[in-house]
Amino acid sequence: MDELPYKTILCDVLVVGAGGAGCRAAIEASRLNLDVIMLSKELIGKAHTSMAEGGYNVSLGNVDPDDNPETHFKDTIVGGNYLNNQELAEILVNDASERVFDLEEMGALFDRTPEGKIAQRTFGKQSWRRTAYASDRTGSEIMITLVEGIRKESVRVFDEIFATRLLVQDGRIAGVTAIDLKYGDYLVFRAQAVVMATGGAGRIFTVTSNAQLDVGDGYAMAFEAGCDIIDMEMIQFHPTGMVAPESAKGRLVTEAVRGEGGILLNNKGERFMNNYYPEVMELAGRDQVARSIMTEVLAGRGSPDGGVYLSISHLPKRIVEFRLESMIEQFGDAGVDIRDAPMQVSPTAHHFMGGLKTDTNAQTTIPGLYAAGECTGGIHGGNRLGGNALLDTQVFGAIAGGNAARFAKEHERPGVDRKEIQKEFNRLEAMLKRKEGISPAVARKELTDLMWSKVQIFRKEEEIAYAVKELKRIEKEVVPNIKVDVPIKRFNPGWHQAIEFGHMVITARMVAEGAFMRKGSRGAHYRVDADPDDDGYYNIVIRRGSKGEMKLQKEDLVITKIPPP
Ligand code: FUM
Repeated sequence: MDELPYKTILCDVLVVGAGGAGCRAAIEASRLNLDVIMLSKELIGKAHTSMAEGGYNVSLGNVDPDDNPETHFKDTIVGGNYLNNQELAEILVNDASERVFDLEEMGALFDRTPEGKIAQRTFGKQSWRRTAYASDRTGSEIMITLVEGIRKESVRVFDEIFATRLLVQDGRIAGVTAIDLKYGDYLVFRAQAVVMATGGAGRIFTVTSNAQLDVGDGYAMAFEAGCDIIDMEMIQFHPTGMVAPESAKGRLVTEAVRGEGGILLNNKGERFMNNYYPEVMELAGRDQVARSIMTEVLAGRGSPDGGVYLSISHLPKRIVEFRLESMIEQFGDAGVDIRDAPMQVSPTAHHFMGGLKTDTNAQTTIPGLYAAGECTGGIHGGNRLGGNALLDTQVFGAIAGGNAARFAKEHERPGVDRKEIQKEFNRLEAMLKRKEGISPAVARKELTDLMWSKVQIFRKEEEIAYAVKELKRIEKEVVPNIKVDVPIKRFNPGWHQAIEFGHMVITARMVAEGAFMRKGSRGAHYRVDADPDDDGYYNIVIRRGSKGEMKLQKEDLVITKIPPP
C-alpha cells in the first residue's frame, strides 16, 4: 500500500450534502455557535432540491380552513400504505408550519392568496388543498433562500467535494474521507458529529427525474459503516416524467399539472383513470397512477413515444402561464405548447422512501451520525405524498442539525485510523493506475439497465432474483476492475463516475435484496406474483454483517395512532 498524501480539516459538525436538508441542518447547527462545515458535491445551490417543482405540504388552512396537522398525518399514513414510522410522520406534520415560516423569514417568496396568505394547491391523495408553492419552481425558490441563509451564517462551505467513506472510531462517527473534485486532492474531514444529507439514488435506474449526482452515496457509505438501513425496496416512480426527446427522458412533469386539473388520456382519447381509481382519478397515489399508466402502455394504448397523454389545454391559459411556467418552458424546448397540446408522459424513478434508519432526534444507529432528507427512510412508508419531500428536508434538516450540534458540544472529537484512511485512498488511486479493466460508463449502463428492466414498477420473483445474482457478480467481478479511461486527477468525471459506481452497486443491491424479501405487494413495491399470505405490514432493515454481507430482517412497524386496516 502506498503512503498517499492527504490534508486533514477539522470542525465540530460536518454536514455531507448541500441540498434542502443539508443546508437547513448546517444553518441550525451554526446557530448554536459551532464550527460547521458543509460539503457540496457540486457548486452550492445546484443540488437536486432545486429541481423540485410542485410544492411543500403544510396544513395552514389558508385555502381550505378545515385542514389541520391531524388530517395531514392521516393522509401521509394512508398514502404511505401504513408502513411509515408514525413517530416521525407526526413530527413531520406538526413542525411543517414553523419550518415554512422560517423559510419566509429567510426570504422565500411563496405564491399568495388574494388576501395575501400563502397560497395552497391540490396534490394527490390529500384531503385538502395543502401544498404551498412558488409557481412550479418551489424547490428552486427554497434553495435560493437556503443558500442565502448559509451565507449569513458562518458555515464553511466546501464546493465540489465528494465524500467517499465514513470513518468510524470505537463505534462512533469520526468523519469522512473525500476527494476534491477540482484538483483531485485527498481530504479527511474530522468532526464530533456528522449529518448525512446526501439525497437519493434515482440514477441507479435508466430513467429518472433525479440530478446526475443522485447515485446513492449516502446509502452505500452508511451501509459500509454499519448503519441500519430501512425499506430500500420502496422506490417511488413518479407517474409523469417526460418521454421525448430522448435527452429529456425522465425529467419531472410536476404533479401540479394534475393538481391544477390536468387529465390523463390514452391513445383512444379515453380518460383511463376512470377505469382504475374513479373516485380520485388523476389524483390517486403516485404508486397507483404510475401502475395505471404502465398498464395502459403495456396494453398498447400508449402514445407514440411510449407514454400516455397529459392534457391541460382545457384550462384558462392565464392559469397555466401563472402556475406552470416551468412546464411551459420545459415542453416549449421540446416543441410542445402545453397551453394547446397534450404532453407525453410516463413513469420515472423519483424518490427513495427507504434509507438510513433514524429516530425522532434524526440520530442513526451510529452514535454521532445524524441524517435528514431523502437519504433517510421510514417517514414516508411505502409511498410518499407529493409535497412531503421538501417538507421533510426542512423539518428533519433542522432536527438533525440541532441535535448534531448538541452532540458535538458534549463530546470530544474522536481520533481516526490512518491505516483505514490510506486503504481508502489507495482504493481510489487504483482506479486510475489500473492498466486493464472496465470503463465506468459501460459498467453504469449495465447496472442501470438491469435495475430498470428487472426491479421496476411491476416486479416478479424470478426477475428480482436475476437482478440480485447479477449485482453480486458485478460486485465481485466489475467493481474491483473499474478502470478510469484518462488517468488524471484534476477534474476528471471518469474518475468520479468510477467511484460513484461502487456506491451505486451497493445501493442497487439493497433495493433488489429488499424487493426479493418482500413477497407481497405494498405501496410502491408491487409484485405481479404477490404472495397472498404476505400482507406487507412490516419494515425491512438491512445491516452489514461481520464479513461485509447484507443481512436483512423484518421489523415491526412503529405505530402511534393509526394501525393498518
Ligand atoms: O410533482 C412534483 O412536483 C414533485 C413533487 C414531490 O416529489 O414532492
